[in-house]
Amino acid sequence: MRVLGIETSCDETAVALVETNPWSTDILSQVVSSQIDLHRPYGGVVPEVATREHLRNLPLLVPQVLRDINLTLDSIDAVAATEGPGLASSLLVGHSYARGLAVALSKPMIGVNHLEGHLYSPFFSNRRAVEFPFVGLIASGGHTLLVHAVGWDRYIKLGSTVDDAAGEAFDKVAKLLGLPYPGGPEIERVALKGNPDAFGLPRSFPERDNLNFSFSGLKTAVRFFYEKSAPMQQDPVWSYDLCASFQKAVVDVLVRKSVQAVAQARVERLAVSGGVLCNKMLRDELEFACYEAGIELIVAEPAFCTDNAGMIAGTAAEKMAAGIPPHCGEDINPNLNLFSPEPEGDLARGLSAAMKLKNRQTKNLPKIGDVPAPGEIEVW
Ligand code: KG4
Ligand code: ZN
Repeated sequence: MRVLGIETSCDETAVALVETNPWSTDILSQVVSSQIDLHRPYGGVVPEVATREHLRNLPLLVPQVLRDINLTLDSIDAVAATEGPGLASSLLVGHSYARGLAVALSKPMIGVNHLEGHLYSPFFSNRRAVEFPFVGLIASGGHTLLVHAVGWDRYIKLGSTVDDAAGEAFDKVAKLLGLPYPGGPEIERVALKGNPDAFGLPRSFPERDNLNFSFSGLKTAVRFFYEKSAPMQQDPVWSYDLCASFQKAVVDVLVRKSVQAVAQARVERLAVSGGVLCNKMLRDELEFACYEAGIELIVAEPAFCTDNAGMIAGTAAEKMAAGIPPHCGEDINPNLNLFSPEPEGDLARGLSAAMKLKNRQTKNLPKIGDVPAPGEIEVW
């Protein structure tokens, strides 16, 4: 089965074609058109600019993805697009384009949750079939989330940020220090030259059983320290040390909470993705901590950490291959939730909540025989 995926939830126009194989779903071709240069002068994403670029890019990128592997639209079995969460106007362009394509081709259209795509991307990127249960860490510009993934569509929130996302903190601190957008790669580049133990910056929620994150206190601490140290600001070594100390504070918290989450959920696997996971220090520290704790770590390749369409097409393909009825959303949902409302109150109770949800959803899931084969799915 071949699925064409479209991802336009924010400022990247991404298109990919994937194919399901007996053991995994593999990428056949993909393109990502980044708009970073267009948004950089504004210090962040401008929704109107992003929307216009998606409109321009999609009619060029879809044929390009097919041309790259000498395939035509006839060879596609389904079209998938991000349904949410994300910027409304950006989502609308990709989702509408995908729906139009699906109708024209008489193929199924599948709406995919962007966060579910991120959860699956470490497996996809490593050409592995997804193995439940696992704990997923998503750290990007919009989200910092720890999820207990029990099965497809069975997700329990273990922790999330109560204010800024990790990537957002990198972007804001970079802006304060006069570094360009996006801040994460810039801070990482500067931090390489600094001493991560130079300045003691605060870590949020140090309690062992609290899996939430908070980065605004750290950001404010950096701002106060920076403003108070005006004479030092011109000293490059001082700036290197500040970037390195800030990076270490973010990395420490993400690593510690992830390892705690795995223990709390009583699983053996940690799968991580999102733009912040491009950070080498974070990848190295996670590897070390997981090795020490006997946790299997699955990390997405950097190209699959940031927003991409492979994870969207791959999620749709794997779910269909697993017999999950495709979700043919008629519309976008910028606030699309990954979690069922029921387990939200059970956040800290991990496993018991997981079992409760599992039992409830197993009852409602259709039997494999009830699920239509891809060709039989109705397009409206
Ligand atoms: O996943 P992503 O591409 O888009 C969102 O869905 O947000 O993540 C972008 C975020 C930005 O905040 C960026 O600064 C951060 O990921 N980022 C990094 C690195 N590369 C990107 N943060 C830290 N270190 C990096 N190397
Ligand atoms: Zn994302």
